[in-house]
Amino acid sequence: MTKRYAVIGHPVAHSKSPQIHAAFAAQAGIALTYEKVESPLDGFLKTIDRLRGDGFSGANVTLPFKVDAFRLAMERTLRAEAAEAVNTLTFDAANIRGDTTDGVGLVRDIESRCGRALKDQRVLIVGAGGAARGAVGPLLAAGPVKLAIANRTLARALDIVQLFADTGPVSALTLGELPQHQFDVVINATSASLADALPLVPSGVFAPGALAYDMVYGKGQTPFLQLAAGAGARTADGLGMLVEQAAEAFHVWHGVRPDTAPVYRQLAAGG
Ligand code: ATR
Repeated sequence: MTKRYAVIGHPVAHSKSPQIHAAFAAQAGIALTYEKVESPLDGFLKTIDRLRGDGFSGANVTLPFKVDAFRLAMERTLRAEAAEAVNTLTFDAANIRGDTTDGVGLVRDIESRCGRALKDQRVLIVGAGGAARGAVGPLLAAGPVKLAIANRTLARALDIVQLFADTGPVSALTLGELPQHQFDVVINATSASLADALPLVPSGVFAPGALAYDMVYGKGQTPFLQLAAGAGARTADGLGMLVEQAAEAFHVWHGVRPDTAPVYRQLAAGG
């Protein structure tokens, strides 16, 4: 029987996940369907019950349900526990397994497609919400010499630092402290690009040859990326992370690692 998958969000109409998973499935010769499911904001549990009742094998979960999915999962991977978020659910008759592939997707995109090994790099994440939290574990695993988290609200950055302090060289900064520091990789994990607002990063934060990475995609050159380009940094948006997190979810479900390059190229070309 053809296995059924879905991406659940609110809104979800914009999602490229069906296209990405269909391309991976064609590559791997796996028969599956993958659809968009918009869940009511207060109806995530019911949506999951319905999908399980309809025989779905799994679902990706996007905003704003990643914490709901974390709570609902009966069993979670270590990386999901660390991120306190779930974007990949696997269903069977008795169980719901939760995993998160966002952080691994980010690191893979930076290291493979952007060609920037993170080992011994000075890395800055701006923002301390769910997106930042999910990235910290996989970033530390890549061996940076330093990982700083800067946030408008320092307390949220300090919370994440406390969680990961035993894992690697992670520290918190206020946005006001940034002018005293330089980084080789600067990642925008705030939701500021979505609102087209400029995050409060000084242009001096980019070390010579720095890579600036915005987790947001489909917004063109965000104000953050414009600032970075003006400071001489290389820039990347979050399209590659989107493709890589999908590839990791594909691997979780099907045990196959797809070739992401052609799918990235197709999406980047607007297809
Ligand atoms: P997500 O789950 O997508 O990370 P979130 O948990 O709402 O979303 O977190 C949004 C992040 O963007 C936070 O770090 C937020 O800063 P605060 O913790 O101080 O609220 C940050 N953010 C949003 N708009 C911002 C802006 N205009 N300037 C700087 N930071 C901003």
